[in-house]
Amino acid sequence: MLLLHLNTVDEEFWAKQLGRLLPNMGIVRRGDTFNASDIQYVFVWKPQKNVFDGLTNLKAILSLGAGVDALLAHPNLPENTPIVRFVDDELTQCMGDYVVANVSMHHRCFSQYRTDQKAKSWTQFFPPPSWDIRVGIMGLGVLGQDAAMRLLGLGYQVNGWSRSEKTIKGLTGFVGKSELDIFLAQTDILVNLLPLTPDTQSILNYPLFTKLCRTGLKGGPVLINAARGGHQVEADIARALTDGTLGAASLDVFEVEPLPKDSPLWQIENCYITPHIAAISNPESGASYFARVIREHENGRPLLNVVDNRRGY
Ligand code: NAP
Ligand code: GLV
Repeated sequence: MLLLHLNTVDEEFWAKQLGRLLPNMGIVRRGDTFNASDIQYVFVWKPQKNVFDGLTNLKAILSLGAGVDALLAHPNLPENTPIVRFVDDELTQCMGDYVVANVSMHHRCFSQYRTDQKAKSWTQFFPPPSWDIRVGIMGLGVLGQDAAMRLLGLGYQVNGWSRSEKTIKGLTGFVGKSELDIFLAQTDILVNLLPLTPDTQSILNYPLFTKLCRTGLKGGPVLINAARGGHQVEADIARALTDGTLGAASLDVFEVEPLPKDSPLWQIENCYITPHIAAISNPESGASYFARVIREHENGRPLLNVVDNRRGY
């Protein structure tokens, strides 16, 4: 039996989609009558504190989020139950779209021409070709690798930073803390696609911004964060955008969401804010993914995309 525990999304719609795809699996929601010990799978999003109460026969926890930082911090998370996270073509495509749009916008000096337009100023400056721009991607997992391939296809020089070594055609990889500074020194546009873990918490801070390359982009280096708000120190971003350490930033995620009305980031001209919309997949493609996970597991195959709880992603 599968229990849905989805907050802030249309749980009823998910239940219908999953019911259609898994006709032999009982599917229940919180208000239904069922025995907690009959639940084999629980599908969660923003779970409440009591979500796991009485679920003594769980085979897996299914996470609607691709990022599992909040789930791993749940105070009552069962210790030895595998967590399957969301990995989905549509979500990956949307993240690639977000990254490409923002890299192109900054490379083509959008902020500068916008300011000139407002001032009715005809000032010719010719942005360099994409092959002169170095994009550095932090995190070379599902989303980072896909974004890297798209950017390489557009001609950008792409570097990546990850925990373990990667061999990706056309991309120069940097590994671990010891290579972070060399990676940053070769980065004009920094894209963060790391998971949020104790190691990556607050990694996007002022000292890090000072290490980015200052000669590649006319207005200064650019930060694009589409991963988690916990990665960034917003006071440092505001300072860096104001004093020119950063030329611009595109932020999809924030320390507190929704971004509080009194955040200085709202007012900063070269800060591009989106409300955590870079890549949220729709229930159609999501339901077929989770139905496949359950179907295959029930047929004796290993679970897909299982989180390593000790690593934190
Ligand atoms: P993933 O497949 O788990 O990839 C994580 C990558 O980060 C891996 O390459 C990993 O290195 C690297 N990494 C982890 N810790 C590191 C460290 N301490 N130092 C250097 N590299 C480290 O994750 P994903 O699916 O690409 O997703 C990334 C994040 O995007 C999610 O965790 C989520 O928070 C965020 N997200 C945001 C949205 C949105 O709408 N804004 C949507 C979906 C996801 P190894 O390869 O060596 O393990
Ligand atoms: C969204 O932010 C996700 O982690 O899926």
